[in-house]
Parts: sequence; C-alpha cells; structure tokens
Amino acid sequence: PMEKSKGDLLSVTSSKEWDEKAGFDINENESTVSITVVGASGDLAKKKIFPALFALYYEGCLPEHFTIYGYARSKMTDAELRNMVSKTLTCRIDKRENCGEKMDEFLKRCFYHSGQYDSGENFAQLDKKLKEHEGGRVSNRLFYLSIPPNIFIDAVKCASTAASSGIGWTRVIVEKPFGRDSESSAALTKALKQYLNEDQIFRIDHYLGKELVENLSVLRFSNLIFEPLWSRQFIRSVQLIFSEDFGTEGRGGYFDHYGIIRDIMQNHLLQILALFAMETPVSLDAEDIRNEKVNLCELSTEVKVLRSMRPLRLEDVVIGQYKSHTKGGVTYPAYTDDNTVPKDSLTPTFAAAALFIDNARWDGVPFLMKAGKALHNKRAEIRVQFRHVPGNLYNRKFGTDLDQATNELVIRVQPDEAIYLKINNKVPGLGMRLDRSNLNLHYADRYSKEIPDAYERLLLDAIEGERRLFIRSDELDAAWSLFTPVLAELEEKKIIPEYYPYGSRGPVGAHYLAARYNVRWG
Ligand code: NDP
Ligand code: BG6
Repeated sequence: PMEKSKGDLLSVTSSKEWDEKAGFDINENESTVSITVVGASGDLAKKKIFPALFALYYEGCLPEHFTIYGYARSKMTDAELRNMVSKTLTCRIDKRENCGEKMDEFLKRCFYHSGQYDSGENFAQLDKKLKEHEGGRVSNRLFYLSIPPNIFIDAVKCASTAASSGIGWTRVIVEKPFGRDSESSAALTKALKQYLNEDQIFRIDHYLGKELVENLSVLRFSNLIFEPLWSRQFIRSVQLIFSEDFGTEGRGGYFDHYGIIRDIMQNHLLQILALFAMETPVSLDAEDIRNEKVNLCELSTEVKVLRSMRPLRLEDVVIGQYKSHTKGGVTYPAYTDDNTVPKDSLTPTFAAAALFIDNARWDGVPFLMKAGKALHNKRAEIRVQFRHVPGNLYNRKFGTDLDQATNELVIRVQPDEAIYLKINNKVPGLGMRLDRSNLNLHYADRYSKEIPDAYERLLLDAIEGERRLFIRSDELDAAWSLFTPVLAELEEKKIIPEYYPYGSRGPVGAHYLAARYNVRWG
C-alpha cells in the first residue's frame, strides 16, 4: 500500500495525526502538499479541477508550500499547461481585484509531466520532480484520477511509485463511474485496495459538495419546524429531479456504456435521498454520518436508509431516449446522431423511478426520481409534498382543489439556489379568497457572496483529510445493490426506451408512473 509506515499509523489520514502518532514535532510550515492531476489534458481537469484549485488558492485555503502537477500522455511543456489552464480560471465577481496577479502566482506553481498511465518508470520520474519541489519537507501527496475508468487501476498501481515517502500522507481521489454494477464495482474496490487503504481512497460524488445539498442536514437538524414533519405521517411524496437542457454532447462514447440511471440516479440522486431520509446521526463526524446513510451503526436501533430500501423493480422504472427535433429553424440532434453512439443504441438518456424505504419513518412514501438529458430546462431539485390538512375548513367552505392546497417544500439545488415553502394564505382584501404563496429563501438575494463550486469544497476536504462528503465502499455496495437487478433486466430484455423530442419535458410514461402513486411531478 501507498502509506509506507506500519502499525497503527496505517489508519491515520491527516498529516497532523501522522506527526502526533509518529512522535514527530513538525510544524505545518515544514510540510508540503503536492497535488497531481492525472489526466490533466482532459475535459474535467480543464473545466473543474484546475479552476477549483485556483479558487482555493485565491481564498488562501491551500497550504503555504504546495505544488500542482498535471500528468497525462499528451506532450506539453509547463508553459503550455499554464496556457491551457489559464483559459478556464475565473475569479468570483466580488473578488475581481488583483485577479490577474493571483492567477500569475498560481500558474507559477503549476507544472506538467508527460507519461503513460501504466508506466512505473514515468511515475518514478514524476516522483523525482515532486521531491525537488518539496525540498526535503514532509511530503503529503494527493493524486486526482481524472481519467477514464478502464485505466484507474494501472494508474493507481503506478502512482504508488510516486506515493509520499516517509512520514507524509498519500490520498487518491477517484472519479465516477465506480463500476457498472455490483460485481464490477466490487472488483474495482478490490483492485484499488491492493494498492491503497480504504482511508486513502476518496470516491468523489460532486453533488455532495453542492451548497444546497450540504445545507440539507442543517435545514433538517437545526430547525425545529422541519424535523417533526419529516416522516410518512406528514409527507406524501418526495421528488428528486435532475434535468439538463443539452444532450450528451462530446461524451456519447462514455455515456452509451453507462446510461442515465448509472450516470445520475445511482450516485447523485441516491446520495441526496440518503441525506434527506437518514436518521439523526450521532454527531457530525464523517463516520457517524456515513453509518447513518448505510445502516451500519450497531449501537443504534434506528433503522438506516440505504439498507432499508427495496431494490428497484422494473415496473417502477420508465426509460426514454431523446430524438431529433426542429424548433425555430434549428435542428437538434438525436442521441444516436452522435458518431460515438451505435445507431441502434437502447441506452436511456432519461429515466423516472419510484423507490421505497421500508422503515418506520418512510413506509409507503414514494421517493420519485427523474433524470434526463436534452430536456426543456436545466435544474436539480428536491420537492417535498406534504399531506392534506385533515378536515381543512377552507377546502370545505371554498371547495379549493385538494392538490393545490397542500404544502410543498422545494430545495432548488441549481441553478439559482433557493429553498421555498408553498403555503396557503388569504388574498388581502375584504373578501375571502385563498392564494398560494412562497416563503422564499433565495440565495442570490440573501447572500452577496458567490457560491463556491462543489469541486472546491471537495478538493479542500481531501487535502484536509475530511471524509464526510466522500463515498465509503460499503455505501457504494449498498447503492449498487438497489440498481443492479433492474439494470440487468433492462439490458437482458432489451427494453425499448420511449423516444422524446430534444428539448421536451420527456416521456409521458413518467407521468403515468407518478400517477400510479397519486403524485404529480412538480
Ligand atoms: P477525458 O475523456 O477527457 O479523459 C481525460 C484524459 O485521459 C484525456 O485527456 C486523455 O489524456 C486520457 N485518456 C482518454 N481516453 C483514454 C484512453 N482510452 N486511454 C488512456 N488515456 C485516455 O475524461 P474527462 O476529463 O471528461 O473525465 C475524467 C474522469 O472524470 C472520467 O472518469 C469521467 O467519467 C469523470 N467525470 C467527468 C465529468 C465531466 O464533466 N467531464 C463529470 C463527472 C465525472 P492523454 O491522452 O493526454 O493521456
Ligand atoms: C456528471 C455526469 O456526474 O454530472 C454528467 O456524468 C452531468 O452527465 C454532470 O452532466 C452534471 O453535473 P452538474 O454539476 O453540472 O449538475
């Protein structure tokens, strides 16, 4: 394994803890952090990782001594990497001053090494360069594997050549997809564990780093008014909605092997669901929260979420695929128009599903998920629909539509972050007319500061050894076991997706599914 020291030091994940346990008296100024972005020439590195690292640098969140290395097969000089990276760096609107200067300082700390992902020799050369920058200080090393999954294991094996030697830590951030089903995910975990301890593996689900997803626990556990209502007694249904108004543009090759259920539902939406539905954790510690999501805490008799869920059934799933559509003289392509997608592909670009948690809190409450590409809008939302007010006086007197009269709490994760509660109120005036209004926490109005990107939070957590927002292997197993049977059935039976026009609201089947559970999509 990459952590070179033995015994109880193996379980240590923070540099401070290392120093304390190993009896070293080293102050933070004497340690360095080297961050290697493996796959630095790729889309994610350019779009998200380098900009997030710059934002952390700007905010003063990176340690004094740090170095960033890009690693990939493409031939590039340091100057070319800097030029490539500089095109995607931005400053927050409220921080425009000194931005250029800060960018220059940041870029001077970025370097590039070209090498193969399966070459121990090339990683050894990287190690040599890292050591030169570290200048004999305690070296902590973070590797971000921003590469296609088929080369994860080779890269991890070789990166262990460049693991921190001596007393620093080594951590590896792994990007999804973590396999395609239970079996391949378990094989990936097993292979990773040949070279890494579980404590060194940081499986990223960037939705867990989104501001409103982080706020979910605060909303539930630090406001008296929500938690008492958070159960089957008051909640009629919960909807988790993800939609994008563009197709798989440029990522068709990857996408066709996975489909929307694996791309969005099994990870991003399921993680939100687990945070939404979990019992109160013992504390805010990473392990307590992750235990609560998976159902592991042996001390507690409360029923836990993921392991209390029923595996998804075929009759509770609707799948769709977008087809070409012409609007205003513009023709939008079908999914299968992408050259990297087979013409007869049945891969779903849309899915709706009904999931259930068989525990005392959530028995019988449908958790409806909907995820799709090339739809009419871009949004990610949690919508909580409450039950009717029993014997509602106003319904009886004014015959209000029951559906309209129910309260709904909406947590808009993106865009235009907000939390709003739909309530019934009286229209001002002499008569008695009811209206529905929003009690609205609209982030842009309430906070002038720009919201950090999810990758900033997650990278900072990985540097600090905070594991709360990363996925543990047992959590991953539990997540796959809910989706693997239905994914196999869809593929074996070659279920044909319902075709929907690019830019539409998606297949009508999703409405029938919701109607079966007496729910309307919000
Ligand atoms: P890319 O396809 O852009 O690949 C990253 C780099 O890996 C490429 O620049 C290339 O570098 C190298 N590479 C690509 N294909 C191969 C191959 N077949 N064999 C060896 N090397 C290859 O990936 P992304 O940057 O889009 O994504 C990286 C990881 O992050 C993936 O696991 C992806 O699933 C995940 N991800 C991506 C998201 C995104 O928005 N892009 C979102 C969420 C997750 P070179 O040729 O220079 O070696
Ligand atoms: C990724 C998916 O995990 O999340 C992509 O692979 C999707 O298909 C992306 O586009 C959405 O992320 P965000 O943060 O832009 O909503």
